[in-house]
Amino acid sequence: MLDTVLFVVFPYVAVALAVAVGLLRYYKDRFSFSSQSSEFLEKRELFWGSVPWHYGVVIILIAHLLAFLFPGLWGALVADPIRLYTLEIIGLALALLTIVGMVMLIARRIQRPRVFSVTTTLDWVLLVTLLAQVVLGFWVALMFRWGSDWYIRTAVPWLRSLVLLQPDIRFITALPWIVKLHMLGGFVLVALFPFTRLVHIFTVPVTYLWRPYQVVIWNRRPGPSGRRS
Ligand code: HEM
Repeated sequence: MLDTVLFVVFPYVAVALAVAVGLLRYYKDRFSFSSQSSEFLEKRELFWGSVPWHYGVVIILIAHLLAFLFPGLWGALVADPIRLYTLEIIGLALALLTIVGMVMLIARRIQRPRVFSVTTTLDWVLLVTLLAQVVLGFWVALMFRWGSDWYIRTAVPWLRSLVLLQPDIRFITALPWIVKLHMLGGFVLVALFPFTRLVHIFTVPVTYLWRPYQVVIWNRRPGPSGRRS
């Protein structure tokens, strides 16, 4: 019964919340649909936390997604032990990168009074949940080996059953609780999405890649050196 609530009811509630509240926030309060950058308050520590965090987590999540979308191809990829070991080692290294990045980001918010003062309770909830999720992922990968293989036989059919609206939790009920906690954590983050800065995932300024350069027209007279500033 508990498994049904956690792995069937909760995921659907989380996704429904994310879509409904996310859309409502986008149309009612579009200005808040951002990471609400604190770069102008402190830049250096932000760089050393944010870069490892984002590179690590984005690559890991792409791997989660690829294995979910193409379990056949992924299965063929990890069928060879050398490729499996290589993937697992890369995964663990990236997980460490995310943990270091997130610890630095949290430390920055605690240590810098100006950044601390713009951090809300929900920000703390999100940061701690993200840290817990990557620590759990690292722990699962380390203690329950070859997750890149058993993932496609457990998590993938369960997630697929949810997408097809024919929920089937038999694939995951026998898994160790720590693995289940990591899976649940994924949906806790989905539920937190519309209420937090996580919404910036959908406002990444990718248009920078193709939009025209910014045109700056100086309005001041040039100084003696010919410079305008
Ligand atoms: C329902 C959603 C999710 C499921 C079913 C899931 C499942 C798994 C599994 C089975 C592993 C072990 C892979 C291995 O041994 O190599 C893993 C690793 C990991 N997961 Fe997740 N995960 C989910 C969501 C997330 C999310 C949202 C994050 C980050 C915010 C995350 C971060 C990690 C990290 C950092 C690792 C360790 C790196 C690795 O070796 O792949 N996971 N996950």
